[in-house]
Amino acid sequence: MNIVIVGTGYVGLVSGSCFADKGHHVYCVDNNQSKIKDLKNGIIPIYEKGLKSLIDRNTANGHLEFTTSLKDAVGEADFIFIAVGTPEMTNGEANLEYVYHVADELSEVLDDTRYRVIVDKSTVPIGTAYEVRKRIARNIPTAAFDVCSVPEFLKEGSAVHDTLHPDRIVIGTDSEKAQKRLVELHRPFSNQLFVTDIRSAEMIKYASNCFLATKISFINEIANLCDAYGADIKEVAAAMGLDKRISPHFLNAGLGYGGSCFPKDIKALINMADQVDYDATLLKAVQQVNTKQKYRVISHLHNVFDHELAGKKIGILGLAFKPNTDDFRESPSLFIIHELVKQAATVVVYDPVVGHKARLPDKVEIMEEVTSVFDHVDAVVLMTEWPEFIHLPYESLKHKMRTPVVIDGRNALDPVELKNNGFIYHGIGVR
Ligand code: UDX
Repeated sequence: MNIVIVGTGYVGLVSGSCFADKGHHVYCVDNNQSKIKDLKNGIIPIYEKGLKSLIDRNTANGHLEFTTSLKDAVGEADFIFIAVGTPEMTNGEANLEYVYHVADELSEVLDDTRYRVIVDKSTVPIGTAYEVRKRIARNIPTAAFDVCSVPEFLKEGSAVHDTLHPDRIVIGTDSEKAQKRLVELHRPFSNQLFVTDIRSAEMIKYASNCFLATKISFINEIANLCDAYGADIKEVAAAMGLDKRISPHFLNAGLGYGGSCFPKDIKALINMADQVDYDATLLKAVQQVNTKQKYRVISHLHNVFDHELAGKKIGILGLAFKPNTDDFRESPSLFIIHELVKQAATVVVYDPVVGHKARLPDKVEIMEEVTSVFDHVDAVVLMTEWPEFIHLPYESLKHKMRTPVVIDGRNALDPVELKNNGFIYHGIGVR
């Protein structure tokens, strides 16, 4: 099959490489010239396990090509995936400018020589596929095509694995012809193909992400109550997770969710609810809990240092919103760093991948070595559970610190070991 993927972000680049690896011919299209130039030279714009070798292999065998020209790419295309960004606007609404721009461009460049399946892969509000169809048909009323929705569920950090081994693939379509082709295309990836109507497919994406965010805010709220009552959230979550109806996944308490999806998708669904005059009470609460949760670190520091952080030196471990990614969008770490600077603390930070890419307040020092984060600090705060932070020799690093305080914002460290080694340890809802 000939496949065109428009947009070379996480979703587009990973899906394109995985389709190419199954033997299809894939054109990845992006209007960002320098990004395409880099990709052609084997420079990958994102840090994602396994992606570089996948791209190298498939560019070498000619299955994967990169171009800035949608016109050149779509000539022979059987499938065209729209995988461009849908960033949030100030009111929380998803910005569809880029999706519609692709639709308008397709309307200019498609001809009626062959039937094509056009797929919305970007996370888009319910009803978007119909608008995309209308726009494409504007200049080419006789062209044979269907617009469908196949939402993406990959996680950053394990994007290639998630794409090659998904739990399920949702195919939203109102055309039997498109359904047959999409089923055929996706069958090698999963036996769990869920075929539904377009609007339900669009909703499944938002509902899934918002449900996971709800689980996180729920367990964080329980963790805060564990703190107050002396229970241990790790024990509580472990036992809750044994109930199959609850499941153990997404029950790790911490500083709340970040990243490019959950915060944006919750806002977008609240906005969709507003548009039909529905008050999305639960979703708003999920968001409120998450906004407050980041600051648990600050309250723990206040408790330890008697509400005075001015002049204290705090070492931060981690900038990425979660491990195994260089993405720091909406990362709780950034909020905490700004708050600490606001409270006149001195901040030093280390992240194995993000490093200098993050824009931090001038006074914040980014360290080249993880162990330098411990030099003369009053406390170390773990913000991202990178494996290398979990296996640090804390006992020997303690002697570099002014006071041996560890705040574990991800409940990733061993409290018993740290306390036995003389640390003052605080996790989130951990005894
Ligand atoms: C998420 C969805 O999982 C994915 O299906 C969708 O396609 C995009 O959004 P991603 O944002 O890459 O993926 O990361 P994910 O691993 O889901 O984590 C999201 C956030 O939740 C992170 O900040 C993580 O630290 C936090 N989290 C996750 C918790 O705080 N506790 C948990 O138990 C799980």
